[in-house]
Amino acid sequence: MQSQEEKKLWQERWQKGMTGWDQGAPHPSLFAVVEHAKLEGGLPGDARFFSAGCGRAHSEAALAEWGYHVRAIDLSEEAIREAQSIYGKLPNLELKVADLFQLETTEAKSYDAIYDRAMLCALPPESRRLYIDAMKARLKDLGLFCCILFRDLHTLSHPPYAVDEAEAFRLLGKDFVLCYAAAVPAAPIPAAVKEEWISIWRVRGAP
Ligand SMILES: C[S@@+](CC[C@H](N)C(=O)[O-])C[C@H]1O[C@@H](n2cnc3c(N)ncnc32)[C@H](O)[C@@H]1O
Repeated sequence: MQSQEEKKLWQERWQKGMTGWDQGAPHPSLFAVVEHAKLEGGLPGDARFFSAGCGRAHSEAALAEWGYHVRAIDLSEEAIREAQSIYGKLPNLELKVADLFQLETTEAKSYDAIYDRAMLCALPPESRRLYIDAMKARLKDLGLFCCILFRDLHTLSHPPYAVDEAEAFRLLGKDFVLCYAAAVPAAPIPAAVKEEWISIWRVRGAP
C-alpha cells in the first residue's frame, strides 16, 4: 500500500507547485490512444472514463469535450482546486479529491475505460499490484486500461519510478490482454523523459 509519507509528499509537491510532469495541455498522444482504443478494444461513443491522479486534468477535460463521461480524481486538494478553476464548467467532467485505493461502492464495474498517464509510474513498486486491482475493480467486463508510461527510467527510490514493458506484462498480463502498444517520442515535459510507452489493455473475458 502507498504509505502515508508518500501521500504527504504528493500534497507537498502540489502546495509547492512542484508539478514538473504537467504539460499544460492534453497529452499529445491522447487522440491516438482514443482512436486505437476504438479500433482495437472497442469504446462506445458515450463511454465512461475513470482517471486516477489526474492533476490539472488537461487530458481528462479533452476526453469530456469529445463527448465521453469522465470521473477524474486526485489525492491533492490543490490539484483538484486548480483543475476546477480551469475545467470546472465542463458538464461531462467530474473532478473529485479522492484516494484511488478507496473504491466507492457505486464505482465497482462502472467504467468502460481507465486513462492513466504517469499514475502507475508515480507509485512505488509495492503499491502497483493494488493499483491494478483497484482499476480492474472499477472496469466493466471487457473494459479498457489505457496507459501512458514514462520510458527508460531507472530509479526505484522516488517517483517517477521505473516501469518497463516487462513489468507492465507482469502486472497486467494475467487479467488483461494487450490490444495495442507503441513507443512515442515524449512531449518536451518533463525534460528528463525521452520516450513514453502507450499501451491499451482489455480485461480478459471468461476462458
Ligand atoms: C505524476 S502526477 C501525474 C498527473 C497527471 N496524470 C498528468 O499526467 O499530468 C501523479 C498524480 O497522482 C496523484 N496521486 C498520488 N497518489 C494518489 C492516490 N493514492 N490517489 C489519487 N491520486 C494520487 C498526485 O497527487 C499527482 O497529481
